[in-house]
Order: sequence, then structure tokens, then C-alpha cells
Amino acid sequence: MTGPDGIPARPLPISARAPGKCVLFGEHAVVHGCPELVVAIDLPTQVFVRAAGRVALNSDPRAAETHPYFRAALALAWRDRPAIDVRSVTRIPRSAGLGSSAAFVGALGAALAAGTGGLGRAELAQRAFEIERSAQGVGSPGDTSASVAGSYVALNGGGGEPLWSVGVGSDRWTVRRVDDPRWTWVVAYSGIPRSTADAVRAVGERLARPDGPSILARFDEVARAGIASVGRGDRRETGELLRRNQELLREVGVSHPRLEALLGAASPVSDGAKITGAGAGGSIVALPVPGREGELVRLLARAGALPFVVRAEPAGAALVEAPDTA
Ligand code: MEV
Repeated sequence: MTGPDGIPARPLPISARAPGKCVLFGEHAVVHGCPELVVAIDLPTQVFVRAAGRVALNSDPRAAETHPYFRAALALAWRDRPAIDVRSVTRIPRSAGLGSSAAFVGALGAALAAGTGGLGRAELAQRAFEIERSAQGVGSPGDTSASVAGSYVALNGGGGEPLWSVGVGSDRWTVRRVDDPRWTWVVAYSGIPRSTADAVRAVGERLARPDGPSILARFDEVARAGIASVGRGDRRETGELLRRNQELLREVGVSHPRLEALLGAASPVSDGAKITGAGAGGSIVALPVPGREGELVRLLARAGALPFVVRAEPAGAALVEAPDTA
């Protein structure tokens, strides 16, 4: 059963898309069971899947072995099926903390689900997480759940309507919808690529020290308050909480001089800003003072970053269909 909101069955060729994401509160701590707030952003990835004589991703036949997310998707969602050729195009910079892998997995997961009889949305969220986790080895389902659900989602606390509970082994995360305050955000890629898995492992080691539980308690408190303040559209409090979350990310060692410079550049025209995603490189997110988005983009570009004005993308992973086949 796919349900009204699920991915319907379709024959190949199939096209599907899914949004990138931005973590607003609680990255890293979510891996250890604390709350997190993630928003799907209007930077999409789209895949085209068709039958072919050999398996390939963007014309690379070795990708089935060398691309960890593609390899995991084939193993978990296309096992023992005929060869497919996959094209993937994206607006999301890679290894930038903006959900390029979650969007790829969400879009490809939706396309492969359609080609194998369809899937409910909660099941797609679980599958997308399993694919990402199998490729990455560590991490939470925050990125993949936002990409599959669209809009704002909270993990492990706060939020409203329950969407799903996903997990691996004995680790489970509950995912709920958070009301969209209809804010514009600015994300800016520092140009320093990083590995999520390495950053997650390094923070895990930091949190294993004796003061780890008290740091996690502060992450928990800030994220819980952040989920509530975004849900009720309180900009002032959200800005303050973004700053407090950034102090904690600094404390666990995932800031970087380039990221601190970008946060400094953003500060005069934003209500609050922080690293977003795994850190140690990657991107920042800023909540611009309303009407000063353009100025913020110029300041960040002048500081050497690649900035994007983004809004919440309401649609999660979905098939892209011509109107006459919908
Ligand atoms: C990455 O976007 C967020 C992290 O918490 C890792 C994860 O939750 O998988 C750093």
C-alpha cells in the first residue's frame, strides 16, 4: 500500500526529484538521541532512470562499485533487477552540508520505489535512511527525513503531527511536522568540503569525555526551544537560539576559522546565524533581517562564500510526471 501520499508504481523510464536540506538546530547531538530541526530547502536534485544494457550513473559504469550512495541504493532498492542508466542533476553543492546525499538518495529512492511497485512515504523515509546509513556508516535520519517529507521536520521531540519513526538496529528516531513560519534563509558554502562521517566520529569522541552528557543536555535544551520558536514564528528568539547553538558546535570542535569569518560577515544583517550540518567546513545558515537578504548575500560573497537565498520546499521526494501521465 502506497497510501495517498506515497510513491505510486510506474514503469521505466521514471524521473523523480527531492530537496536538499538545512539543519537549523541540533546537528550532531541528534545522532546521540537529542532533538533536531531540519528544513527541506528549494535546492533540488532530479534523477532520470531508464532501462539500459549496463548499469551506469551519469555515464560512469564504475559508479555501481565506486559511488557509495548509488551502490547502496542498488543493493537495497534494486536488487536482482534489470540494468538501469541513471542521470542525476542537482543545484546542491557536494560535501557542503546542504543535503546533496540525502536529496540524491531521496530522489533515487523514490524512482526505484516507483519502478518496483510503489512505496508509502514512511517506508521511503526508512529506506532512504538505510541507504544513506549504509553508505556513510554513521548518522541520523534527519537529512533523509527532511528530503522525503519536505518543509520543516523535528526529530526526537517537539513538533506536531507525527510523520514516522525510523531507525537501524536499536537506534530509533521519531519525526514530526513543524509549522512553516514562511521565513527566507540564506545559506552560504565556505568552499571547504568535509566528510560528514569523519565529523560525526570526531564529535562522538568529544562527547564521550566526562563533560559530554552536560554538553548534550545543553544541545537538547537549545534544540527543543528552537523547534518551538520556529514553530510559532518568533524571529528574535530563534536568532538568539541560533547563536547559542553555534557556541555548542564550537565547543564540540566543528567550527573552522573560515566559517567563523562568514558568521562575522553575516552578523550585521542577520537575526542569527550558525554552521549548518556536520561543520568542520561546509556551510553556514543565517536568518536575514527582513528586506536585507540581498545585502547579506553580497556580504557573504565578498567574504568568499557561495551564498544561496532559500525557502522551505513544501514538497518532499516525488515523481516528476508529465501532466498527461499524472
Ligand atoms: C548532518 O547534516 C547532520 C549530522 O547530525 C549528521 C547526521 O545527523 O546524520 C552532523
